[in-house]
Amino acid sequence: MQQVVVEQFGGPEVLEVRDLEPPAPDAGEVVVRLTSIGMNHADLMGRRGDYKLSTGDPPYTPGLEGGGVIEALGDGVDARWQNRRVLLRPETPRRDHGHGGAYRSHFVCRPDEVIDAPDELHDRLLGAVWLSHFTAWGALVWMLARLGRSLEGATVALPAASSSVALAAAQVVRHHRGTAIGLTTSPEKTDDIADAYHHVVVTHDAGALKPFHRDLKALTDGKGVDVFFDPVAAGAYLNTEVRALADRGAIVVYGLLGSPGAVDVSPLIRKQAVLCGYVNDDLFRTGRDAVTAGCRHVLAGFAFGHYHQRVARTFPLADVREAHRVMEQGRHIGKLILVPGAP
Ligand SMILES: NC(=O)c1ccc[n+]([C@@H]2O[C@H](COP(=O)([O-])OP(=O)(O)OC[C@H]3O[C@@H](n4cnc5c(N)ncnc54)[C@H](OP(=O)(O)O)[C@@H]3O)[C@@H](O)[C@H]2O)c1
Repeated sequence: MQQVVVEQFGGPEVLEVRDLEPPAPDAGEVVVRLTSIGMNHADLMGRRGDYKLSTGDPPYTPGLEGGGVIEALGDGVDARWQNRRVLLRPETPRRDHGHGGAYRSHFVCRPDEVIDAPDELHDRLLGAVWLSHFTAWGALVWMLARLGRSLEGATVALPAASSSVALAAAQVVRHHRGTAIGLTTSPEKTDDIADAYHHVVVTHDAGALKPFHRDLKALTDGKGVDVFFDPVAAGAYLNTEVRALADRGAIVVYGLLGSPGAVDVSPLIRKQAVLCGYVNDDLFRTGRDAVTAGCRHVLAGFAFGHYHQRVARTFPLADVREAHRVMEQGRHIGKLILVPGAP
């Protein structure tokens, strides 16, 4: 088997691919031969040492999602699990589950830590739907409901519009009868992402932030945006969102792409608006039933065809360093996926 190990934090060169003996399952365990490992921005943060909550101290194995085919069963496991196509549940490849990350060709866990894949989901996608679509569902359906808000009829602005999470969020918004506005820093990507959104707004000009609240006000007849689903979450960018927010709006912060800076949140008083954070771990802590509900929603979406994954590129697991370099450049649109055993 192949497993990626990070011995010390740093650049892509710290990702070591090790060849190891294939794992043998203990009693009650299965071995999943992974056909798909989704890459995520968090993998870059972790490798740099900026996400210790997830990685702990090195050595560690990166990777927050994976899926494949059950290849071996430990004693006592029902023979019907053999050869099942499965996704690791979203909570499974986590440090606090004792398994470590998914950047490996074979993953050992219990049958209740996987979930059956619908036939419609290609092998290459089995490990590449949770961090995009489950995150979008968790923040925009599960959490907004807790805040007494819903997507129906709402205008939702999605920064980092070319990212896998924002592209998934646009599908979740459309499915729940909202209007999706993509916000991108990259003018050169607008043609390629236009179909994914009702509208696309470019927020930067030659690297400088534009007063994009004007575009958003114009698109909403002066009312403003009901929900920002925001992975930038800082400084002048967040200030602009506060200005473009509708009365009783919500800014849901879920990433740290931006640079810190002062933000004037006082308009939130007049607007009776909320600013809150979202992280999947909140949902995991709520309990297995809530996570399962999200998983079922996402998988049904793929099975019925209203959700899909835009794959920017796949890489053999052995090329993980190159894959991290490409992700760091930020020119991709959609999901980057590692495929163990691919030539
Ligand atoms: N809270 C959670 O539970 C959770 C779960 C999953 C992901 N996330 C977060 O979701 C975000 C997207 O993840 P991903 O894996 O989909 O990333 P990704 O595919 O690598 O997308 C990154 C994109 O973000 C945009 N971007 C980069 N730097 C930016 C900046 N300074 N200001 C504004 N936009 C910037 C760019 O898109 P444009 O060129 O279109 O602007 C870039 O292509 C990350 O912040 C990640 O940490 C959070």
